[in-house]
Amino acid sequence: MKKVTTSVLLKMKQEKQKISVLTAYDASFAKLFDQAGIDVLLIGDSLGMVLRGEDSTLPVTVDNIAYHTQSVKNGTERALVVADMPFMSYATPAQAYENAAKLMAAGAQMVKLEGGEWLLETIEGLVTRGIPVCGHLGLTPQSVNVFGGFKVQGRDQQKAQKMIADAQQLEQAGIQMLVLECVPNGLAEQITNAVSIPVIGIGAGPETDGQVLVMHDMFGISANYMPKFSKNYLAETGDIRSAVAKFIEEVQNGQFPDEAHSFVD
Ligand code: KIV
Repeated sequence: MKKVTTSVLLKMKQEKQKISVLTAYDASFAKLFDQAGIDVLLIGDSLGMVLRGEDSTLPVTVDNIAYHTQSVKNGTERALVVADMPFMSYATPAQAYENAAKLMAAGAQMVKLEGGEWLLETIEGLVTRGIPVCGHLGLTPQSVNVFGGFKVQGRDQQKAQKMIADAQQLEQAGIQMLVLECVPNGLAEQITNAVSIPVIGIGAGPETDGQVLVMHDMFGISANYMPKFSKNYLAETGDIRSAVAKFIEEVQNGQFPDEAHSFVD
């Protein structure tokens, strides 16, 4: 068993092998996903919505993420464990260092932050201090109130250009992976080609280096609405293990996402 590291993910991008990612929040599902061959497990702040039934990710705390990160880490042998930094836990570089350290101590191997240019100093500081960082652009759910809802981002030319520039600046600042959420397929492809780090899409079409889904959406059991880009693999296969295996297989062979599960330009 070869552990997934940032170097493994980089090589996968270079060799055009698709990266499969799921969210996980406890040791049992983490173990099941890990044994099925998932590459990355994300302790997403989506836990506020799918575990607690909140209508956004905003109420989630660093302690919440740390608790679930420890559980996921305990169930994981192979996958890279990435923890989300919650809303306002990285508003200043100093806050980011303190809170990221808590998540790393809980078992994270990388932390994920939502945002573009304003995060450059924070990212450089985290990486310099030994904390790998994943960026997150497009529909960044912690900014849902600024966006006025969970909406596709980057449809107009100016915002699309800004997103491409942000991705390149984040890479220069030191991120080693980028999540791209709810953007048109063509823009996701441009960003994927504009950076050398792996780009993981969710509602970003088939051309990114990998795909991530929230586990409850992938099983079709979310307390909230089911996003258009998500696919119910449990309904298709009938049992949990087959659902996970099919998700990984369809990511690897490029079958997921198809047009019905993405935003064609
Ligand atoms: O919180 C989360 O689960 C996420 C994914 C949707 C990428 O950020």
